[in-house]
Amino acid sequence: MSIQEKIQELLDLREKAKLGGGEKRIHAQHRKGKLTARERIDLLLDEGSFEEFDMFVSHRCIDFGLEDETYMSDGVVTGYGTIDGRLVYVFSQDFTVFGGSLSEMFAQKICKVMDKAMQVGAPIIGINDSGGARIQEGVKSLGGYAEIFKRNVLASGVIPQISAVFGPCAGGAVYSPALTDFILMTKNTGYMFITGPKVVKTVTGEVVTDEELGGAYVHSTKSGVSHLIADDEEEGIMMIRKLLSYMPQNNLEDPPVYPCNDPVDRLEDALNEIVPDNPNKPYDVTDVIDAVVDNGEFLETQTNFAQNIVTGFAKFNGFPVGIVANQPNYLAGVLDINASRKAARFVRFCDAFNIPIVTFVDVPGYLPGTAQEYGGIILHGAKLLFAYAEATVPKITIILRKAYGGAYDVMGSKHLRGDINYAWPTAEISVMGPKGAIEVLYYREIQGITDEKEKIAFIAKKEAEYREKFATPYEAAKYGYIDDVIEPRNTRFRIIRALQMLSTKKDENPSKKHSNIPL
Ligand code: HXC
Repeated sequence: MSIQEKIQELLDLREKAKLGGGEKRIHAQHRKGKLTARERIDLLLDEGSFEEFDMFVSHRCIDFGLEDETYMSDGVVTGYGTIDGRLVYVFSQDFTVFGGSLSEMFAQKICKVMDKAMQVGAPIIGINDSGGARIQEGVKSLGGYAEIFKRNVLASGVIPQISAVFGPCAGGAVYSPALTDFILMTKNTGYMFITGPKVVKTVTGEVVTDEELGGAYVHSTKSGVSHLIADDEEEGIMMIRKLLSYMPQNNLEDPPVYPCNDPVDRLEDALNEIVPDNPNKPYDVTDVIDAVVDNGEFLETQTNFAQNIVTGFAKFNGFPVGIVANQPNYLAGVLDINASRKAARFVRFCDAFNIPIVTFVDVPGYLPGTAQEYGGIILHGAKLLFAYAEATVPKITIILRKAYGGAYDVMGSKHLRGDINYAWPTAEISVMGPKGAIEVLYYREIQGITDEKEKIAFIAKKEAEYREKFATPYEAAKYGYIDDVIEPRNTRFRIIRALQMLSTKKDENPSKKHSNIPL
């Protein structure tokens, strides 16, 4: 073969690899509204930046007639490239080859990029579209999954790991995403379940559709498995690019700093009016967040799950931060099992990757009752407490209104190593709300009053006294638990100054193998 012929052979092989499982299956993929593995990578990475590994890999299975059916790349496209000029590693499962199912060699390809990402210290993004373990490969496929899981675990907290679920994710295919930091799912095409509807029907008799069992809606509202949801793959890929912009490359670096064109000293007069006079009236805490962050840009995570707490990323003067905020607009912002789980995981992600945490507090306490107790609110609630207490990143907390009971302690209080703790003049910091407190303190007196009107007047008077004395920020400020009471409209620049002051903060936890967070 001449050199020209050899080069032509290479080019032909490359073209063949690009066809994955063949044109018919590519058309089928497109008909479902899905892109191919390579089209997804092209959209995700900066133009022309993708360098592919292992295009010539194929499986080694000789059972079930598979020795006669091989495809270049073996169902997963892997390599590296850049997003906004920053290095990332990527793998993208190719549903056109054996339904994106995982073989021994497929797993080896993923492990290779994961190992490189760890050595180099760069994020890894996995695009999932897979029927799970490749049935014909048996235990080799199970071993392959476990090799990936092990790497996910070792990489956790070292490099950011992001999963996109753009197709079915069945069986073992769900557990690698579950071990990563963020999962994004597309509506109508992304599914995640440990067994599909057919198996569910056989085992439990339950009849469900793919969508009902593990669609994007279910996982972003009920289970909390998914963090971001997109209408289609293009939108999902843009969200992943955006998400990465808030993160450092690895746990030894700080997040990137961006130029900021939003005035640092911008005052927001509307914030002086945002908290209603009536303490039982709700308001939307995302209005507070939007008003104070750079250009009102807030990337909210798990928007539709545990809506009583808001989590997400924003920037202050170009510095990325994680934001946690109780949401008075939903269940009065109460802390329950799901809210605690959601916020705890978010706080731990930020802490692992040197992203400061800004917390906005308006919380009436933990949700009481048997449903919560039987569900383990004691353990789940402790997760959030644990997460805040162990976090060593800069922590800034602003109490907007209620900070009652244990929820005061938990939500980034001074006592859990909050660095800067501010309160608005509307803050009410106390062991419990006035109503509950009066019912406990004056139980006998209230029982003794027979006249209903007199009873109501007595309770109202005692509540007013209690509110005057305890439901203010000044009692806490008196003990230094609150560093300052600030005018709401000044919140943006007070946070920015605090972040600047804390930018060289050093703090660490005692040396240990690892902590034992209540799981
Ligand atoms: C080998 C598979 C496959 C698999 C799909 N295919 N899943 N090949 N192993 N696991 C092949 C099909 O034979 C078909 O080949 C092509 O991929 C497309 O599949 P279809 O069924 O035609 O597509 P669709 O109707 O879109 O359904 C997709 C699906 C379904 C929902 C993923 O294929 C499915 O339910 N697959 C099995 C899921 C599953 O139970 N996996 C094993 C899990 S056990 P052709 O040649 O027609 O294109 C597991 C254990 C690991 O993962 C545990 C680790 C902890």
